[in-house]
Amino acid sequence: MHSACVVGGFLRQREKRGTIIVITLGIDTSCDDTCAAIVENGKSVLSNIVSSQVTVHHRYGGVVPELASREHISNIVHVVGEALERAGVKANELDAIAVTSGPGLVGALLVGIYFAKAFGLAQHIPLVGVNHLEGHILSIFLEEHPPSFPFIALTVSGGHTNIYHVRGFGDYTVLGQTLDDAAGEAFDKIAKLLDLGYPGGAVIEKLAAQGRDDVIDFPRAYLSRDSLDFSFSGLKTAVALYVKRWLEQEQRNPEITVADIAASFQAAVVDVLTDKMVAATGRVKVPTAVLAGGVARNNRLRRTMQERMAREGVDLYISSPEFCTDNGAMIAVAGYQRIMAGQSDGLTLDARSRFPIDQL
Ligand code: KG4
Ligand code: ZN
Repeated sequence: MHSACVVGGFLRQREKRGTIIVITLGIDTSCDDTCAAIVENGKSVLSNIVSSQVTVHHRYGGVVPELASREHISNIVHVVGEALERAGVKANELDAIAVTSGPGLVGALLVGIYFAKAFGLAQHIPLVGVNHLEGHILSIFLEEHPPSFPFIALTVSGGHTNIYHVRGFGDYTVLGQTLDDAAGEAFDKIAKLLDLGYPGGAVIEKLAAQGRDDVIDFPRAYLSRDSLDFSFSGLKTAVALYVKRWLEQEQRNPEITVADIAASFQAAVVDVLTDKMVAATGRVKVPTAVLAGGVARNNRLRRTMQERMAREGVDLYISSPEFCTDNGAMIAVAGYQRIMAGQSDGLTLDARSRFPIDQL
């Protein structure tokens, strides 16, 4: 590692008590948060700044891509500046820049990518494009006690619901994925339907805490017997139909509250996610599992997954809430690993709206 040299620049060499220090700036602008973080040696977070655009998109009940790009443009310089300042790191002390290159909204991704190219060029340091989903998987390495390879990972977010067999850095096999809506998307759509605002996950979780989760038996889609894939669109339709009937006064059951609907919906999502993870760890016979992505902030999911995995004898690692939702630190971790493996990207790095993880 002492002589790590990559296209597009050289890793600056710095030592602290005999240990090589590599400081990476991680940037993510894949969706509606402008994120930048400074991470030392792919594990110690010196700063992690997330500028949320919720107030911009809230009134539309979802992310408006054009507005997201514009917001990233006005935020990015300030967010990176704040990340450097909080970390106590000067721009010329950075060793590498990692930036999400996909999957995501192309216009939004391009803001981060072009900023990173210009910054990397000015500082003469290597630039590496990162797959956002790899970032979610590797966010677990920001924890004090990370897992050892191999493990089964569930990344559950607003855009994706995937189960992976993770054998090492950069070595992933997709075991299952959603065939339609992602779990977070289902939370967001049900929140919109119930007029609870955007994003929906946190608000549904809060409401669900006051409701009963066993009064409405919403469908759980397991697909075929052996399938590790997901489908949440049937559940979404079932909830929509239920709410429509519930709102029609004459058929309205006064015993059922909106909190009961939220709790019953959340229970259906959590059941499917945990059952599929039990099936995946059983099938691959790997005794370690990881839970990551925005929906992994959900306490009901965290608790249920912990209980089920403990029963199965599987060690479960869950990302800290701040590293579950989109952040630059997880991108810095993935970028650091790529740089250390001798990889980097040049000025041709482009945005990819779709970016299968097995095409890394
Ligand atoms: O990982 P993330 O920040 O962005 C994507 O890559 O999509 O995930 C955002 C998703 C949103 O759909 C949001 O509703 C969901 O994570 N989410 C939650 C919770 N907090 C955020 N879902 C359920 N419960 C939560 N507490
Ligand atoms: Zn994400």
